Amino acid sequence: MKKILAANWKMNLTNPEAQHLAQDVLSGVQTFLPSVQVVICPPYTALTTVRSVIAASGIRLGAQNMHHEPAGAFTGECSGPMLLSAGCDDVIIGHSERRHIFNETDSMIALKVKAAIREGLRPILCVGETGQERDQGLTFNIVERHVRSGLSGLSPEDDIVIAYEPVWAIGTGRTATPEQARDVHAMIRNLLKTIYPERYQMVPILYGGSVKPDNIGELLAQPDIDGALVGGASLKAESFNRLIEIAAK
Ligand code: 13P
Repeated sequence: MKKILAANWKMNLTNPEAQHLAQDVLSGVQTFLPSVQVVICPPYTALTTVRSVIAASGIRLGAQNMHHEPAGAFTGECSGPMLLSAGCDDVIIGHSERRHIFNETDSMIALKVKAAIREGLRPILCVGETGQERDQGLTFNIVERHVRSGLSGLSPEDDIVIAYEPVWAIGTGRTATPEQARDVHAMIRNLLKTIYPERYQMVPILYGGSVKPDNIGELLAQPDIDGALVGGASLKAESFNRLIEIAAK
């Protein structure tokens, strides 16, 4: 499986800034694109700008969230057909910031995953425990609940990516150790085996949480870590391009 390097720009970058960064990423990583799948997830306002920069490069475009209804009176929301028309291939769903700051529940997230598939977008389903849940020994229970509920009602052939992002590692500089990440990724793979016995090895499982050029190598060396979902280090071409270069090796 090709490694996947996904950039989550979160609520950062104006249109001109997004255009520059996308250009710098494209020009810096073109030679690695045959061996790594790169996804850029800008804020909604920069989707079409980034789409025009990466045009037919093979770099995929993702949104960071979506509403499950295709249209309607939902002020401030954005739907699957809108994302598709902006050129999106992927959509992050259930990011911990959506779960914990915007109170998204497992059932809302499951609806969004189903809606994304219905519209032809590939969901990047985020799962992961808080620091408190880890300290209480609940990591596997929480991750299993997130995965089971997020995948409920999908068919084995539906194209999906899972991102394990321990909440305590996001934006804190405190990366999970390769062993901590490996154990949760193995647990997710085993769970997928019970849900999708025929295709469980083909579902990419990304790690996210303070991924940097100096720790990505040992993370990607672990079995079942198929790539990374990167926040802070994706906001500078220098560090994001370096991550792609390391993943291509
Ligand atoms: P950081 O890489 O900034 O820790 O963010 C991770 C993340 O939330 C990606 O979705």
